[in-house]
Amino acid sequence: MFMYKLNDGQQIPDFGFGTYKLNGRKGVQSIVSAINNGYTMIDTAYNYENEGTVGRAIAESGVDRDKLTVTSKLPGRYYAYDDAITALQESLYRAHLDYFDLYLLHWPNPKRGMYVEAWQALIAAQKFGLVKSIGVCNFLPEHLNKLQKETGILPAINQIELHPYFNQADMRQFDNEKGIVTMDWSPLGRASSVLKNPILIDLAKKYNKSVGQIILRWEHQLKTIPIPKSSSPIRQRENMNIFDFEISPEDMKKIDSLTKADGRNKDQDPAIYEEF
Ligand SMILES: NC(=O)c1ccc[n+]([C@@H]2O[C@H](COP(=O)([O-])OP(=O)(O)OC[C@H]3O[C@@H](n4cnc5c(N)ncnc54)[C@H](OP(=O)(O)O)[C@@H]3O)[C@@H](O)[C@H]2O)c1
Repeated sequence: MFMYKLNDGQQIPDFGFGTYKLNGRKGVQSIVSAINNGYTMIDTAYNYENEGTVGRAIAESGVDRDKLTVTSKLPGRYYAYDDAITALQESLYRAHLDYFDLYLLHWPNPKRGMYVEAWQALIAAQKFGLVKSIGVCNFLPEHLNKLQKETGILPAINQIELHPYFNQADMRQFDNEKGIVTMDWSPLGRASSVLKNPILIDLAKKYNKSVGQIILRWEHQLKTIPIPKSSSPIRQRENMNIFDFEISPEDMKKIDSLTKADGRNKDQDPAIYEEF
């Protein structure tokens, strides 16, 4: 597995595992299976209410903590500085971990106007050793520019909605120019109609792969980090099995052309949409 070097000197894997909706005992079983299938990066969030599930799965997997990259996220309701530090400590407590490898602001919530204060808390948390790297999710160029202007420190990662119907070409270019690595949420479009797209079905036949594998490989070749979620051990293995083929430049363009201006799954435009 390839490791991306981040702008703070840390390294993270080029592929990860999403855990939204994996909760409780069944969630533990799915995440243990993912780790035993070879996933080394696990994505959770305070708001998924499963940091305990993730922590338990890590303990039960038998894999050393320091061989895994664990990400969590701060919810918008805790963006005041002291609240942010307390929430992060609570997340670590729930997960039975001493540190997160990566900790992200979950949404910019621009109308609330508190993401710079929350970012200052993350900068401090990194200095305290509570987290190795810090980043954001769903940040637009104006939000990233504001962080840079007011704190001088840019996120290592921007985790954004990215799949063939919303390929984020401009945002990826912006992240690139700023030295920020793009990570893809809902990389399979949350198993929506994109999996039935005829062009992707044709490409799947051509490369002798599944539609999911074509999509995840396309995201890998875009130099982004997909973090697909699956509760099924079979689909977990299928999703990881994308490192033995290469999509041609012409076919990459075909997939790029599927993007739509309104292609977001749930119309969650971070300029307007807020989540706490
Ligand atoms: N930062 C943010 O704001 C944000 C927002 C959303 C998500 N995320 C993170 O990103 C992760 C991934 O996104 P997501 O969970 O929204 O969606 P996703 O990974 O695109 O899709 C997950 C769905 O696809 C199904 N699936 C998985 N592999 C498949 C395959 N090979 N073929 C067909 N169906 C397949 C899963 O069902 P089964 O489980 O039954 O396999 C599940 O219903 C999340 O779990 C979460 O960690 C972050």
